[in-house]
Amino acid sequence: MKNMDTTLTNAELSKPSKTNQFYDDVITGLSATPKYLNSKYFYDANGDKLFQDLMNCEEYYPTNCELEIFAEKTADICNAIIGDGDAFDLIELGAGDATKSSYLLKYLLEHEANFTYLPIDISSNVISYLNITLPVTLPGLQITGLNGEYFDMLTQAASISNKRKVVMFLGSNIGNMPVNDAERFCLEVRNHLSAGDMLLIGIDLKKNPKTVLAAYNDKEGITKRFNLNLLERINRELNADFDLSQFEHYPTYDPETGACKSYLISLIDQKVNINSKTINFLKDEYIFMEISQKFTVSQTEQMAEKASFKAVNAFYDSKKWFLDAIWQAE
Ligand SMILES: C[S@@+](CC[C@H](N)C(=O)[O-])C[C@H]1O[C@@H](n2cnc3c(N)ncnc32)[C@H](O)[C@@H]1O
Repeated sequence: MKNMDTTLTNAELSKPSKTNQFYDDVITGLSATPKYLNSKYFYDANGDKLFQDLMNCEEYYPTNCELEIFAEKTADICNAIIGDGDAFDLIELGAGDATKSSYLLKYLLEHEANFTYLPIDISSNVISYLNITLPVTLPGLQITGLNGEYFDMLTQAASISNKRKVVMFLGSNIGNMPVNDAERFCLEVRNHLSAGDMLLIGIDLKKNPKTVLAAYNDKEGITKRFNLNLLERINRELNADFDLSQFEHYPTYDPETGACKSYLISLIDQKVNINSKTINFLKDEYIFMEISQKFTVSQTEQMAEKASFKAVNAFYDSKKWFLDAIWQAE
């Protein structure tokens, strides 16, 4: 993916802008007990690249499982989406590099489905990349990339057209929230839709705990670099002085709750300056970085029901490690 310079100066930091939001969220998280950072900030240009490396690494099974579903069940998924054949907007929340959705886009174009693709992503790098590359690799594709937060952009998508909506939320992004928040998120998606609209949602399922943990603790250390990259981003964009060598990546998986969590542990007592603010770290103190929640199939069905969706299709990979479900708004 093309790199874009997102570095901001102190002068820019003092302006009310998206960056101030980043600064405020970082200071709020690192002033809390326990400390945390919001994982949505992982995705600057370096984070996008590291996530792509992660998707290609041996232990990170979710991508391969979902790719298998999209490659082998393309026609079934597309036919379910096309329904009666009326025009629709295909909206993708957190599209990333759209590798998986490209299988669907290609099939839909070949079968002359009447649709517009609206990828949504908080990373401006992702949206410029998709706006530039997809019309070349998929001639005839109608695409409107939307750069911003999920629900702000979903509202914008609804204002662009009143066509029926098919929303995709792939890669188990839903797992980047604890179960209660995930349920609220699905309800909010539902509230942005009309009866009959669809949500195609990719969900990572509970499986052997060793398999799960290995995916977030890869031998090459990509997950570690992905987590540390957020500290590097804070250094670069928020004028901070994190010493990355003094933080260690620590992933955990609890098979009872299905919560896989990543932390960065401070290796020493240390002070970190972020613009004019100083944050103290004790030796062994942690920053909670990200949750990757794993679900049972029945949990996913309950989630659909609580959010007023009807689960209408379920597509699994051959190992039954991953589920792509189609839910219809009731
Ligand atoms: C884990 S990647 C998954 C990409 C893709 N869906 C896939 O399955 O390969 C998550 C993507 O969601 C985007 N994202 C994360 N939080 C977001 C938010 N709050 N609003 C919009 N996009 C977000 C990130 O920039 C990133 O591209």
